[in-house]
Amino acid sequence: MTSSVLVTGGAGYIGSHMVKLLLRQGHRVTVFDNLSTGQRDAVQGADFVKGDLRQATDAARAFSGCQFDVVMHFAASCYVGESVQDPAKYYTNNVIGTLNLLEAMRAVQVKRLVFSSTCSTYGDPVSLPMSEDHPQHPVNPYGMTKLTAERAMADYGRAYGLDTVALRYFNAAGCDPEGALGERHDPETHLIPLVLREALRLRAGGKPEDTQLQVFGDDFDTPDGTCIRDYVHIADLCAAHLLAMECLIGGRVSGFNAFNLGTEKGYSVKEVIETCRRITGQDIRYRVSGRRAGDPARLVASAARARAELGWSPEFNDLAEIVETAWRWFSREPARAIG
Ligand SMILES: NC(=O)c1ccc[n+]([C@@H]2O[C@H](COP(=O)([O-])OP(=O)(O)OC[C@H]3O[C@@H](n4cnc5c(N)ncnc54)[C@H](O)[C@@H]3O)[C@@H](O)[C@H]2O)c1
Repeated sequence: MTSSVLVTGGAGYIGSHMVKLLLRQGHRVTVFDNLSTGQRDAVQGADFVKGDLRQATDAARAFSGCQFDVVMHFAASCYVGESVQDPAKYYTNNVIGTLNLLEAMRAVQVKRLVFSSTCSTYGDPVSLPMSEDHPQHPVNPYGMTKLTAERAMADYGRAYGLDTVALRYFNAAGCDPEGALGERHDPETHLIPLVLREALRLRAGGKPEDTQLQVFGDDFDTPDGTCIRDYVHIADLCAAHLLAMECLIGGRVSGFNAFNLGTEKGYSVKEVIETCRRITGQDIRYRVSGRRAGDPARLVASAARARAELGWSPEFNDLAEIVETAWRWFSREPARAIG
């Protein structure tokens, strides 16, 4: 069945991959984006509305041309460090922006929402792997604003009949397996693209000893001393959104529902760098600097609920496969990858 889907933040890294999948599945897609971190050329084949969710009138305008079946809400500010330096930006964009979206949906009676949430809503792990029932005590404003948005969705569910699937991603990684889209954050803070940018610098003739790649702490309580994270491929994230949308449309979920998305495997920073070294064939080196505030030693998901209730089954279960898809795009599109 064809659905009409509004994708906020559809010009960004994850949103643009989602738009490609939705179009391929035959859905009608409208992207709403202010292009603050996204790129217009990443949106091909969908309607595009330029607007800013922080403006209630813009949010309302997104709904003027179409009665959408579902909204997928990716638009947000998403740098943990920046959120500590400038919490106002995060509360304005991630909380007020989301409330404007919810109000615009309520005004036109659009009642199905898939929300990009994050493992940052949990804060420091008290048990591993982390399930959806893990306490939510965010340790930075980014996580707190995403949790506040979740709480608003739950309250809107009880009061106004909004049905939400909040997908709590662990570390999104990799690029379109067909090589058409990639990860283009500026500034980049994610590990795999940073390591691959270093590989591109070396491929262009840079010296290994001039590396700017930093490892934040190698004295954690992990086998090699570096932080362990759960990397989930972008194609698997997008597949989960499609399943969530089908569950919402089929009425199989109602009210507020949260699902973790991760592969349930952890890889250390050093393992990621080693994997990138092997796949790129470059002598990637790094400098060790101090730990960053609020970086837990391990973050690994339990995705049992998504598997059982959404029928989600990630295809990219191995870090090397994830890095290969990213390197395919980075090595083909170095100018875009570096920004
Ligand atoms: N990348 C990850 O590892 C990760 C992990 C957990 C959760 N998430 C969440 O996934 C979502 C997408 O992340 P991403 O990595 O693709 O980020 P991104 O920065 O690449 O994409 C965000 C998009 O939203 C747009 N946008 C931001 N504020 C807007 C506003 N006020 N109005 C309209 N458009 C706006 C940007 O221009 C951009 O196109 C975010 O909500 C993020 O919090 C990402």
